[in-house]
Amino acid sequence: MSMDVPDPRSAVRNDGILSPPSPTSVPAVEVRGVNHFFGEGETRNQVLFDNHLTIQPGEIVIMTGPSGSGKTTLLTLIGGLRTLQQGSIRVYGRELYGLAGTDLVAVRREVGFIFQRHNLLEALTAYQNVRMALELRNGGDDRARIVGILERLKLGHRLHYKPAQLSGGQRQRVAVARALVNRPRLILADEPTAALDAETGRDVVNYLKELSAEGCTSLIVTHDNRILDVATRIVNMVDGRIKSNVVVTESVMTALFLSKVPAFAQLHPNALAEVADHMGRERFPAGRRIISQGDPGDKFYLIASGSVEVLQTRDGVEHAVARLGVGDFFGERALMTDEPRNATVVAREETDTFTLKKDDFRAAVEAHGSLKEQLLKVYFQRQ
Ligand SMILES: Nc1ncnc2c1ncn2[C@@H]1O[C@H](COP(=O)(O)OP(=O)(O)OP(=O)(O)O)[C@@H](O)[C@H]1O
Ligand SMILES: [Mg+2]
Repeated sequence: MSMDVPDPRSAVRNDGILSPPSPTSVPAVEVRGVNHFFGEGETRNQVLFDNHLTIQPGEIVIMTGPSGSGKTTLLTLIGGLRTLQQGSIRVYGRELYGLAGTDLVAVRREVGFIFQRHNLLEALTAYQNVRMALELRNGGDDRARIVGILERLKLGHRLHYKPAQLSGGQRQRVAVARALVNRPRLILADEPTAALDAETGRDVVNYLKELSAEGCTSLIVTHDNRILDVATRIVNMVDGRIKSNVVVTESVMTALFLSKVPAFAQLHPNALAEVADHMGRERFPAGRRIISQGDPGDKFYLIASGSVEVLQTRDGVEHAVARLGVGDFFGERALMTDEPRNATVVAREETDTFTLKKDDFRAAVEAHGSLKEQLLKVYFQRQ
């Protein structure tokens, strides 16, 4: 088709989590000129208008847009759950237009669907629900794999509970495990974090991010702006049309994250972008000592995911004094006062941080009075 839009390539992230897709690889998803209508005759109503979208393998694309704008409709067309009426959709090179029966089933098999109405089987336990998805694909009961994915989604203590005995968020995570246990090449998720609190929602998107590092591609419809920072691209749908399709660079993602952190939220967007440009990214495994009491301070840390324990040694005894989570920061004091670190900070789980080197941190604090004010406020609260 001659109406191709330029191929937006995924951003190269400097944390090494995503590798750039090779320009010669077959796109995971190619949508070209897609229209869609509901109803017949006089009630026939067009809900999708000439949509184009290319998603490369390994990308995480987030789709946002007002209610009724056509997001779910497009998602179900891409997953082969609805018949494509006009235009072209290719999933890993396979054209969906005109496909029917077993061919369409074969496409659906490559896709992991996460929908809000998750339809778990009520008579089966969490473990059995996930096992069934695996058995439908290859007939196996791979216990290690099933337990592994349920544990990864923090359901290790609920393996043998039935849906009625689980909370809404736990049920949703079982549904996520069921959708992903077959390691689909393409994941289509419709509001996957809607029923989840900030922390469990984060677990789910972190897991999607891990899978994307293995080449798995995700298209996620969401209104949850807490998860935007995992996206390589953000697509906005309005009135049945993709209005914007923005490659998210590391710096934009960082600025987006900072804009939700109270200490930084008051900065002008230009200032946020400038601070974000200087930020690095460091990831620590569970148990890793990130800073040690008594050491000179060289860096400021802001938690992007995970959590840490703050420990202080007084009279030779180490005390846990605080736990910090997503959006909290540490390491600022030694940079502001030039004194040695007054506490040790240890990762409680795998923890991802944004970092600022001492000079950049000082420059940011000096340039932006509101940042200094906010940091001082937290500093005094912690005394
Ligand atoms: N089965 C259907 N029959 C008729 N119209 C439908 C059907 N499904 C959806 N629509 C209409 O198509 C339009 C797009 O719906 P869609 O579910 O794709 O929106 P959405 O962007 O996913 O919205 P939300 O954010 O509320 O989930 C809406 O106007 C909706 O009323
Ligand atoms: Mg929808």
